[in-house]
Amino acid sequence: MNQNLDKKPIVILGPMESESAWLIDQLDQPKENAVGAYTFREGRIDGYPVVVCQCYIGVVNSAAATALAIAQYDPLCVIIQGTSGAHDPDLHQGDIILGEDLVELGSFYTQHRDEGQGSAIFDWTQPGAEIKVNDGIERVNVLHSDSRILDVADTVPYAEGRVKRGVIGAADIWNRELDVIAYLHRTLGTDCEEMEGFGVAQVCAQLGVPCADIRVISNSEWHPQEEFNENYGEQCQMFVLHTVRRLIADQTLL
Ligand code: 5AD
Repeated sequence: MNQNLDKKPIVILGPMESESAWLIDQLDQPKENAVGAYTFREGRIDGYPVVVCQCYIGVVNSAAATALAIAQYDPLCVIIQGTSGAHDPDLHQGDIILGEDLVELGSFYTQHRDEGQGSAIFDWTQPGAEIKVNDGIERVNVLHSDSRILDVADTVPYAEGRVKRGVIGAADIWNRELDVIAYLHRTLGTDCEEMEGFGVAQVCAQLGVPCADIRVISNSEWHPQEEFNENYGEQCQMFVLHTVRRLIADQTLL
């Protein structure tokens, strides 16, 4: 048996290289386990098994990596982390959002409109994702990070910005239209958006595994000088590593 996997590991996902490579470098006794394009780096942090995977951008990639990780490792939890764009004008590059609520921004029903009537995005409704709950199926727009993980993350010292518990929206879209960003912020309460969180949470909910989404603000359309800067990905990884060290030390999920 792989010595790194003598206990249920903590799985950490980061979509881009700039959101995963630094964490991979921190693993002791690293081993690689490739499943097609998805490479799981198995190692140890402070003696405890941790698996890091660059899951690639988007809801489908991150959901696939989550399902594979859960099937292979039966993990203690799955943490998705990385960069995000601000919806709240008060947030700035470097601020950290702990995703208490994870919101689906990618599936819509549109109302009938005749030819030539154009589109009315603000009339679109959201059906929600299908989740099996006990014996039935529910449509769910909002899922949640495990509060025990966020409680620990909340204790991590962080000098580079604010740490806020909030709402993270996810879909395979990069919104730059301020009226749309303002609408999502107003109607769904989103603090920021990214392309993975809800998908990871959906798979975790279906398979009964705790998850958390922790994001750094790397760009804000509200502030033209705050263009996307992938270097913030490393800042988020540092914050998440600190959180994971505390989860391990405190045996929070054991
Ligand atoms: N909108 C959508 N995704 C964003 N990301 C960073 N900022 C944004 C944004 N404003 C993240 C996504 C994806 C990658 C392109 O960067 O989560 O992984």
